[in-house]
Amino acid sequence: MAYETRGAKNISQASGQIPGAQTSGAVLRWYDANARALPWRIGPHQRKAGHKPDPYAVWLSEIMLQQTTVASVAPRFLKFLTRWPDVAAMAAAELDDVLGEWAGLGYYARARNLHKCAIAVMCEHGGDFPCTEDVLKTLPGIGDYTAAAIAAIAYDRPAVVVDGNIERIVARLCAIDAPLPGAKALIKERAGAIWPQKRSGDFAQGLMDLGAGVCKPRAPNCPACPLAGDCAAHRLGRVEDFPVKPATRPKPSRKGAVFALVNAKGEVLFERRPEKGLLGAMLGLPGSPWTEKLGDAMAHAPATTKWRRAGAVVHIFTHFHLTLDVHIGKAPKGFRRGREQQWLAPKHARLPTVMKKAVDLAVTTKGFEK
Ligand code: ADE
Repeated sequence: MAYETRGAKNISQASGQIPGAQTSGAVLRWYDANARALPWRIGPHQRKAGHKPDPYAVWLSEIMLQQTTVASVAPRFLKFLTRWPDVAAMAAAELDDVLGEWAGLGYYARARNLHKCAIAVMCEHGGDFPCTEDVLKTLPGIGDYTAAAIAAIAYDRPAVVVDGNIERIVARLCAIDAPLPGAKALIKERAGAIWPQKRSGDFAQGLMDLGAGVCKPRAPNCPACPLAGDCAAHRLGRVEDFPVKPATRPKPSRKGAVFALVNAKGEVLFERRPEKGLLGAMLGLPGSPWTEKLGDAMAHAPATTKWRRAGAVVHIFTHFHLTLDVHIGKAPKGFRRGREQQWLAPKHARLPTVMKKAVDLAVTTKGFEK
């Protein structure tokens, strides 16, 4: 069955029929047979047997999965859950411990909001995650996507969940030829037209699995796809042309310098970064601001000593490329650390990836401790 939806004329003329209710049935049947076993997931058979997802685990996994792959998240999710098995435990944790456990996962505002959100759920909602998108969105770190994902996956509400995988599937299914990100609203509307009232959480996760394993960005496996018969992009023979990407601009470059100051015990001086801004509240090496031109980087050295340049590390952030010069030096006699600074054995410091790269370069440089 195909049925009309609002705004149907926006769909490419070549797309013919608009996918309808049969789409959700096909996805759910496919999910029943092909669901991935993931540590945060109650699979379709468990669900049918009456097992309910833990909203805390759903929330935690959804925050971790933003901008991070399933493979990287899985072991880290289990560590978080072992250390903080419920929202009360997370709310009672020290922020520094949460940030330390998050080290290497990137986008550190997520970890700060995770902690804030746990406190808000305890203080404002009696320890229970809300079940509606509107109320979920009032919580720190929960935006449109995450609210819909929690409402659908944890509570089976028919909330329309659109992550990158689902965006790609819907853009192909309907051959949406407007480029991203402008096409997002239309994609959400199209997704809403095929969204089932029942088994919403399984449907969302079925689409996620389909996007991850079949309707992949490159070399999609259309013969294995339960939606191939409905798919406008497939009919056009242009599956990989969708979603239409925006014209990309090259990322700007920034430069900076960091300083690995070593004491007589072989410990390195670390500094907690300011709460606001990139890598906020995470530990790092002291250093210069990151700017287009390097300027007088040595003015930002944490001590007056003989500095040696160990080399440079490169890191790609979402909005810029960073080249960091790494300098090493011995702490001078009588050096006193600042209030936000601490001495740590390099292997004990839980660092964001760019700082880990810089420290690894410093400690593997000949003569580092001499
Ligand atoms: N990506 C984001 N949320 C997910 C989930 N619940 N299952 C698989 N992949 C996901």
